[in-house]
Amino acid sequence: MFKHVEPYPGDPIFSLNEDFQNDPRAHKINLGIGIYFDEEGRIPVLESVRRAEARLLAAGGTKAYLPIEGAANMRGAVQALLFGAGHPVLSSGRVVTLQTVGSSGGLKVGADFIARWLPGSQVWVSDPTWDNHRAMFEGAGLVVHTYPYYDAGDATAHPPRPAGGLEFDAMLAALAALPPRSVVLLHACCHNPTGVDLSRAQWDALIPLLRERELLPYLDLAYQGFGEGIDADAYAVRALAAAGIGFFVANSFSKSMSVYGERCGALSVVCPDALQAEHVLGQLKATVRRNYSSPPIHGGQIVALVLGEPELRALWEVELAAMRARILAMRRALHDALVARLPGHDFGYLLSQRGMFSYTGLCAPQVDVLREQHGVYLLRSGRLCVAGLNEHNLRASADALASVLAG
Ligand code: LMR
Repeated sequence: MFKHVEPYPGDPIFSLNEDFQNDPRAHKINLGIGIYFDEEGRIPVLESVRRAEARLLAAGGTKAYLPIEGAANMRGAVQALLFGAGHPVLSSGRVVTLQTVGSSGGLKVGADFIARWLPGSQVWVSDPTWDNHRAMFEGAGLVVHTYPYYDAGDATAHPPRPAGGLEFDAMLAALAALPPRSVVLLHACCHNPTGVDLSRAQWDALIPLLRERELLPYLDLAYQGFGEGIDADAYAVRALAAAGIGFFVANSFSKSMSVYGERCGALSVVCPDALQAEHVLGQLKATVRRNYSSPPIHGGQIVALVLGEPELRALWEVELAAMRARILAMRRALHDALVARLPGHDFGYLLSQRGMFSYTGLCAPQVDVLREQHGVYLLRSGRLCVAGLNEHNLRASADALASVLAG
């Protein structure tokens, strides 16, 4: 019956994380998966989240099914977080939002919708992008291409070719050549894996092109608050809304509220008018019902309470700012440690890149040496999760990186 079933090679991020868990070496360091670890190397349960959970329990709790589209209080709170409370795009009923199983669930529901209702539309993702984007859209039956985004250089060339950085002109040129209704996946902030974002001026140059070419932007907002701040990181969402463009945005609370396993996310679609919004919501609900029926209640209610209760909201904003500040401090500390070890090298990228990740430019064989000889785990693309660093593992991380870079 199953003889023809091929073995699964594993997911590059989750498999690496499992390898890390199974690694018996005490000195191992996890800079692979995109998870925020605190100063003691633990995944924090935020105090705002603890208090929200306590309130939910004290109120008696409920384990009832949610509606297919999720809880109304959570969906409303997400809309205000993304667009800003009272935004005209909300009051005019043009935005539909579904609570989803993480932003991954949202991305996939949106991809299924596109495959069903925009037949012929193909998808363009940045080169490079999060490893799972392509798999997700292809899994929905869509054809996926890449547009130029970041030139990482080539450390293995002779002589090595340095990173060229963001390829904004090439990106614009590629997008300008796409047929109408092409789906363009964009990282709203804290680009995964490079940590290199578009500036506001670059968003302002890109958005008219998206509108003129009648392209369909699909924003992935998984790290809101880890870049510059909650509102600043929503710039692309609000600028697209202001431009009157229809678009998708999948957002996540995994990182910003440290609720990874609760699977809290949402999918929002901005539509031309309220009637189309109603129909889009209906078909998204049909998609959800065919997939997982309805989202989980517990995490969504945590999010709704943290966003909606002023005291919890204020506490969360302080906690999120502290995570952001700790990542920035680790960027600076790793930069300084590497400069001290390899004075001739340029590690400025650690300071300019934003969010959890830095793209180190290390090639896969160098990453393998880091893991095998030093117990330091990075993705084979050279992506390093800065949020995995702390005062206890920084020196060993810098020693290992410097030793590999010195060759
Ligand atoms: C990552 O990029 O490491 C995270 O977003 C975790 C994941 O689901 O891949």
